[in-house]
Amino acid sequence: MPGKVLLGVCGGIAVYKVVSVASGLRRQGIDVQVVMTEAATRLVAPLTFQTLTGNRVYTDIFTTEQPGGVPHITLAQEADLVVIAPATANVIGKLAAGLGDDLLTTVVLATKAPVVLFPAMNVNMFQNPVVQSNLDRLRSFGFEIVAPASGELACGQVGQGRLPEPEHVTSWIVDRLARRQDLAPLRFLITAGPTREHIDPVRFLSNPSSGRMGYALAAAAHHRGGNVTLVSGPTELPPPAGVKLINVTSARQMRDAVMEHLPESDVVIKAAAVADYRPAQVEAQKIKKSEHGETITLEMVRNPDILAEIGAQKGQRLLVGFAAETRNLMENAAAKLQAKHLDMIVANDVREAGSGFAVATNRVRILTNDGHCQELPLGPKEQVADWILDAVRKVWQSRND
Ligand SMILES: Cc1cc2nc3c(=O)[nH]c(=O)nc-3n(C[C@H](O)[C@H](O)[C@H](O)COP(=O)(O)O)c2cc1C
Repeated sequence: MPGKVLLGVCGGIAVYKVVSVASGLRRQGIDVQVVMTEAATRLVAPLTFQTLTGNRVYTDIFTTEQPGGVPHITLAQEADLVVIAPATANVIGKLAAGLGDDLLTTVVLATKAPVVLFPAMNVNMFQNPVVQSNLDRLRSFGFEIVAPASGELACGQVGQGRLPEPEHVTSWIVDRLARRQDLAPLRFLITAGPTREHIDPVRFLSNPSSGRMGYALAAAAHHRGGNVTLVSGPTELPPPAGVKLINVTSARQMRDAVMEHLPESDVVIKAAAVADYRPAQVEAQKIKKSEHGETITLEMVRNPDILAEIGAQKGQRLLVGFAAETRNLMENAAAKLQAKHLDMIVANDVREAGSGFAVATNRVRILTNDGHCQELPLGPKEQVADWILDAVRKVWQSRND
């Protein structure tokens, strides 16, 4: 597995932790090439990284010391993975704008390798809408962003902005290297988000699903070499790069899109929160209070059960469902797994803190149809997505070996 990591180090206070990351990676046999921004060299001397990695450290785009080749092109081409840690607000802004005014930003422009950012900064800087919008923009271009941890920051404030501990960053990078292309050439069909069931032209019934879990799965499957089609209900998320996105509104539209794309899929992951019922009738005009009394009665009819329909005709496909429950989590999940002929179900209790709808984290249990249950810790949805895909890969391999 060992590969070549280009470690981009920016001028953030967490640079001292990245020193341990560089040496941890080298201990695992990974070749680490370090590129430092000018600001980073003001906080830690390049010699520290050079000593720990056994490689020359690059800081200057206009160097004449590199024998043969242009350093930013050579470095960009040789990397299996580019990791920027800590990623400062400044470098995030430059990358989002497509600038290349130093060696690090130019290497990122020139590389075809996956680029992972570990933003680390003061909480107000991190929450600044400009920084958040730059991160969204980078995500939409396929950059992978690992959310900073919360806690006490170097400036004394408490909040989100800490670089995760070095051993976590190191193991994240090691795992990411091991997972490169591990899902190629699987074809994924993933659903995400809520559905909307209209009552009249201006009102609908829906649920608080943000779509984040399904989008994180789609992005992770793509980053790991999968070919991904994402059928999404209405969300505010930017479309994940490299993924074929099909936007739908209602459960019936979602059903049609899923059934249309089912034939060209190997793995189907149904992470959408689909409405079980819809109003029996959609009023053509806006309902007016003046036309009704104090109460109004809505008659509801069942929506198509997309998961059951796929389960009945899944063939060799691997089918993964989600169970978002508020009671009897495992009993309900196991019953759904059986009833809908699923291979795997991802269960979460949406009442648990940090879990379920409209939050950035999730805590799930994965139940497979051989009765095995894997309990996972609370983690950012991006990380939970990788764990779910690891489980998918394991089942797929055991079936196809
Ligand atoms: C002591 C010190 C600590 C800093 N820590 C951070 C930080 O954690 N995150 C950040 O985005 N900027 C931080 N800055 C500000 C950056 O160093 C500054 O924006 C610089 O221009 C970044 O350059 P670079 O992005 O090219 O590395 C810090 C500055 C100083 C002096």
